[in-house]
Amino acid sequence: MSDPVLTLEGVAKSFGANQVLANVGFRIGQGEVVGLLGPNGCGKSTLLNLVSGIFAPDAGTVVFNGEDITGRSMDRIARKGLVRTFQLPSMPRRMTVAELLYGAAARRAGFRSLFRREVDDRAEVDALLDDLALSHVRHLPAASLSGGQKKLLSIALALRASPEMICLDEPTAGVHPNLRQHMIGLLRRINAARITLLIVEHDMHFIRELCSRCVVMDRGAVIADCRPSELTSNEQVVEAYLGNARQKRAMA
Ligand SMILES: Nc1ncnc2c1ncn2[C@@H]1O[C@H](COP(=O)(O)OP(=O)(O)O)[C@@H](O)[C@H]1O
Ligand SMILES: [Mg+2]
Repeated sequence: MSDPVLTLEGVAKSFGANQVLANVGFRIGQGEVVGLLGPNGCGKSTLLNLVSGIFAPDAGTVVFNGEDITGRSMDRIARKGLVRTFQLPSMPRRMTVAELLYGAAARRAGFRSLFRREVDDRAEVDALLDDLALSHVRHLPAASLSGGQKKLLSIALALRASPEMICLDEPTAGVHPNLRQHMIGLLRRINAARITLLIVEHDMHFIRELCSRCVVMDRGAVIADCRPSELTSNEQVVEAYLGNARQKRAMA
């Protein structure tokens, strides 16, 4: 692995009596595209919340680019270059897509475009809208976009922070299949611009196309760290998914 950009050690989180994460640890190298997998409710979104500063972990450390960011605020972590998107992005009602993107001016010094080193704000927003196939909705209220368009817009907003790493929470959930393929191309281009990606995703085609590695969780713990091609032959992974399906059937 190249130099780690993100290192988690012994991360734990409970909500009341519900222990959601226990002793989670893994490393992500600079420029990697890693899938974060696991059955519903196993703690993936919670882990992204801890990494991105929405909650502080009860125990453990999160190190980004060699700096301990455990428990820091979301804003401070974003300024350091680590941003995330949400499973269900909510958008303000009164702002248009373009206004939102202009408003989300880069918070970090050294503004860097995906496509050019130095561009003015308008050109950057235009290029982003074009690349995300959102140019035709630029003057619509952001809240009126389809679910898939909101997901694309949230990636655009993440890029406006000039990130070094983006954590994406289920970027293709509820997204039209045509847009999914577009999203794969987009994330590849983002990664080619040296941005590290951690992607929570269920779509195996998407995972195989994009990720070189998968971290698999079950009930709040990491149970596998392997290549996408090794997932189906990993007994613990298969059992985690089948076991959960069996449990659901038994409860139905
Ligand atoms: N803010 C919260 N308050 C209380 N419980 C939470 C909160 N966020 C997540 N949980 C609980 O944590 C568990 C894992 O949820 P989540 O991280 O969303 O799973 P996943 O993203 O893997 O589907 C669930 O039992 C969920 O109810
Ligand atoms: Mg989730």
